[in-house]
Amino acid sequence: MNIFDLLIHDVEKVLLNDVFLDETNKQQFVQLIKEHNYIQELTKYGLPVNNKILLEGSSGCGKTMTAKAIAGALGKNILILNLSNVVSARIGETSQNLKQVFDKAAREKAVLFLDEFDQIGKARGNDDKDVGEMRRLVNTLIQLIDYYPEKSLLLCATNHPEIIDPALTRRFQLRISFKMPGIKTLDAYYNSLLARFPQQFQNIERKYNISFAEAKDHSFTLIKSALISELEAKEEQKVIV
Ligand SMILES: Nc1ncnc2c1ncn2[C@@H]1O[C@H](COP(=O)(O)OP(=O)(O)OP(=O)(O)O)[C@@H](O)[C@H]1O
Ligand SMILES: [Mg+2]
Repeated sequence: MNIFDLLIHDVEKVLLNDVFLDETNKQQFVQLIKEHNYIQELTKYGLPVNNKILLEGSSGCGKTMTAKAIAGALGKNILILNLSNVVSARIGETSQNLKQVFDKAAREKAVLFLDEFDQIGKARGNDDKDVGEMRRLVNTLIQLIDYYPEKSLLLCATNHPEIIDPALTRRFQLRISFKMPGIKTLDAYYNSLLARFPQQFQNIERKYNISFAEAKDHSFTLIKSALISELEAKEEQKVIV
């Protein structure tokens, strides 16, 4: 298997301002971006720059979107690797594969985004051999993270931070938590989603206690259905006339 085939090349442009973030998280990301913009000046004073960040929390609340927005804001390429696709039948191969990806990201000064980060370190069954190999893989990853150059940014995402080996989680200088949106935030999100549609489609029934991604799907489903009904009604009128 060629590991580079598993890299997702995503060129979607996302702005940090389009991500609904709580104020503390937003501030942390803005600071992170500024640190990288001023990296030369900061390192002149021996100041370390944060470059290993763990994005954790609920599905559909903006982890991937934020990673793309950060890369975009820095004008860097983003290399996206889903670790669940990488942990191959032979874990020994996985170490080598990961090393190649880290090397590529460092060489290209890209943003490396490892999604489903909890897939590493999770014991797969009770097979002693697997457990041993997984432990070696965790050690490899720890080394890769430790030697990852400051100029490159490593963003990792997980929905299950609690199952990650603490030896890995403590490598991250920042851990940022993405929470399910409350009613007020979702209302603001619905407003922003609906603004571009004609008035008659904006009055959809709003659902709460769901993620941003679910709210978006829900809205678009209703809008499509209303739009199609309107188009069909027009067609029928034509036939009658
Ligand atoms: N905070 C947010 N602000 C604005 N839009 C959002 C936000 N979170 C999610 N969305 C919308 O939902 C889509 C999916 O979100 P995203 O892929 O970033 O979630 P995620 O946290 O990475 O989820 P998963 O854990 O399932 O990978 C985004 O492309 C965007 O359209
Ligand atoms: Mg994601």
